[in-house]
Amino acid sequence: MDNKNERGFSSNIGAIIAAAGGAVGLGNIWRFPYVVGQNGGAAFLLMYVLFILLLGIPVMLSEIIIGRRSQRNLVGAFRTLAPKHKAWMGVGVLGLIVAFIIYSFYSVVAGWTLNYIVLSCNGQLMGKNPAEITQMFSSFTQSSFWPLLYQIVFIGITAIVVILGVKKGIEKSTTILMPLLLLLIIVMCIRSISLPGAEKGIKFLFKADFSKLNADSFLTALGQAFFSLSIGMGALITYGSYIRKEDNLFTTSLCIAGADTLVAILSGIAIFPAVFAFGLNPTSGPSLVYEVLPNVFNSMHYGQLFAIVFFILLAIAALTSTISLLEVVVLWEIEELKWSRRKAAILSSLCIFLIGIGCTLSFGPLQGFKIFDLTIFEFFDQLTAVYLLPIGALLFTIFIGWYLPKTDVYDELSNGGKLKVRYFKYYYFIVRYIAPIALLIVIITNIIFD
Ligand code: PFF
Repeated sequence: MDNKNERGFSSNIGAIIAAAGGAVGLGNIWRFPYVVGQNGGAAFLLMYVLFILLLGIPVMLSEIIIGRRSQRNLVGAFRTLAPKHKAWMGVGVLGLIVAFIIYSFYSVVAGWTLNYIVLSCNGQLMGKNPAEITQMFSSFTQSSFWPLLYQIVFIGITAIVVILGVKKGIEKSTTILMPLLLLLIIVMCIRSISLPGAEKGIKFLFKADFSKLNADSFLTALGQAFFSLSIGMGALITYGSYIRKEDNLFTTSLCIAGADTLVAILSGIAIFPAVFAFGLNPTSGPSLVYEVLPNVFNSMHYGQLFAIVFFILLAIAALTSTISLLEVVVLWEIEELKWSRRKAAILSSLCIFLIGIGCTLSFGPLQGFKIFDLTIFEFFDQLTAVYLLPIGALLFTIFIGWYLPKTDVYDELSNGGKLKVRYFKYYYFIVRYIAPIALLIVIITNIIFD
């Protein structure tokens, strides 16, 4: 085995599963359903899928090309590919900052999943009325101690996996966890669609009513697509650098994006029929899965079992994503700062927890502390999904479409001429013209209208 392969994933399927694990996360199961709920259902879903196809996959492919060609971390990748123009390294630094920000608020919600696993295991979610369940959610999130404790536990578990390394930690854990996640979500879907009155939820998800769409939902769909695919901050540059030289990057990207979209749609199928069957509100927002679903579990046969299954599912999805966020930072520290993997994982986790404290407390004691009228948590969420990910994506596509020689891009996609890349001219046209222009319009619109 050559050195390059020793550095990264051991097989193509391992790479796909690990990257899909990074992409599939709270964004799919927690964020996607409530965003779809708030934006009118099926018409939004259609727009979301279009964004994935037109922009998501090309941007993802661009990141993976940068990673695999350079075989380096986020910052080192740009130094290697643009040795004469050091400014490009700034794009890598931006990605690192975004990884810190996303991880710090993401770990709050990830920690909540642990609390809900405990609550559902000891039966505390059962036998409560909707008001009590809502009260439980708010008193938990507003208290400081428990959410912080669960947050640090989650960050600790992530650090352990990352310390174990790329093959033994990341690849191995995701190859076990992802099939389990798929199985659990299918179980949830079957339960949900077999509930009486489930058709309404299915209609909501699949029957498009375009009158519900507005400019804002357009931007939300794009932000959601980027967040969900983990693109725009370089997570896929890091994982791309672990992909073997003989693997087909195009099919790899299609599989990752396909898995991510499939899980988002399955989450919708698991959640909306249940929400409608029990006459609950699909537009309740971020608390949808924590406040609405327990009511559903409460009123169904074997509800406690399904509650346990669901929250374990949510925790697994979150874990494979926090692993990918931490790895972005850790690889940079290993390669650039020459830290050991253990030191890098521990110190970055502590640092992320320190920032994350502010996000957790923004549901409690810091609720009144607002930045542009948003709590710290909301501000970080909006800042990344609405601004930083599209800006990152824009810079990546400019790098591939305008900076890196076209022959290099071709060479990387065709594995040195070994693969046929008939799609190349379409891909290149999108990254050179369509994606940068579309992203620029999105970024400017966001700045003007927000
Ligand atoms: N894609 C993840 C999700 O949908 O939950 C979130 C995420 C993970 C974004 C890792 C960015 C990232 F680097």
